[in-house]
Amino acid sequence: MLRIENLHVSFDGNKILNGVDLEVPVGKVHAIMGPNGSGKSTLANTIAGHKGYDVTSGTVTYKDLDLLALDPSERAAEGVFLGFQYPVEIPGISNMNFLRTALNSIRRYRGEEEMSAAEFLGLLREKAAALGISNDMLKRAVNVGFSGGERKRNEMLQMAVLDPQFAVLDETDSGLDIDALRIVARGINAFHGPEKGLLLITHYKRLLSYVEPDVIHVLIDGRIARSGDKELAEELEEAGYAAFA
Ligand SMILES: Nc1ncnc2c1ncn2[C@@H]1O[C@H](COP(=O)(O)OP(=O)(O)OP(=O)(O)O)[C@@H](O)[C@H]1O
Ligand SMILES: [Mg+2]
Repeated sequence: MLRIENLHVSFDGNKILNGVDLEVPVGKVHAIMGPNGSGKSTLANTIAGHKGYDVTSGTVTYKDLDLLALDPSERAAEGVFLGFQYPVEIPGISNMNFLRTALNSIRRYRGEEEMSAAEFLGLLREKAAALGISNDMLKRAVNVGFSGGERKRNEMLQMAVLDPQFAVLDETDSGLDIDALRIVARGINAFHGPEKGLLLITHYKRLLSYVEPDVIHVLIDGRIARSGDKELAEELEEAGYAAFA
């Protein structure tokens, strides 16, 4: 579903990714772990098409598309979703309106009819309730004044409403309390299925005990240093990254 080959990415002239090879088949969950600064968010942002990330060589193929040739909104409309490590505030735009606008622009791109206000409200209420998100949070401006954990939950609400095909979740588990982690993990598992692909970036095996990855990759210095099954997370927790450096 997503195939990354020999990806080299620079930011501000600094080389951050140095030849990443990664393939996530449809229906699979892959996890990326790795030390701070190893390039995990850079990889996520490059997949989503954030500006400033300069792909100097390599390819990213999503379904049959050259993903790097699409602009960020086209990538989203094709079903690629990024849950941010640091979700941004959008003052002046209510969470509700933001989500409805995002959903309808994706529907327009796909040649589908826009969702009516009433239909959208029904969908939003159902998804918000499942994630323990209050009505008040839906009415507030996007992420403005949200706690760290509330922002992460809000990212999951975006994913639930937009229903992408391929989601990259960048440290969605960090900053969540124990109950919120369970709720978010349930949300991820509800999203996941045979038609979907999932790339989870995390520092902790805790999330991976709720959402079982098929493969775990260790990213060191902008390169995949090792890949393995879920035992690898145990091994990392014991030994740290020193053995990979
Ligand atoms: N916007 C940017 N401006 C300057 N440097 C950047 C930028 N984005 C990434 N970098 C640099 O690239 C390197 C990789 O950063 P990245 O955020 O991808 O790491 P990470 O693996 O996600 O780390 P963490 O686990 O701390 O989230 C870091 O040294 C970082 O300082
Ligand atoms: Mg990061």
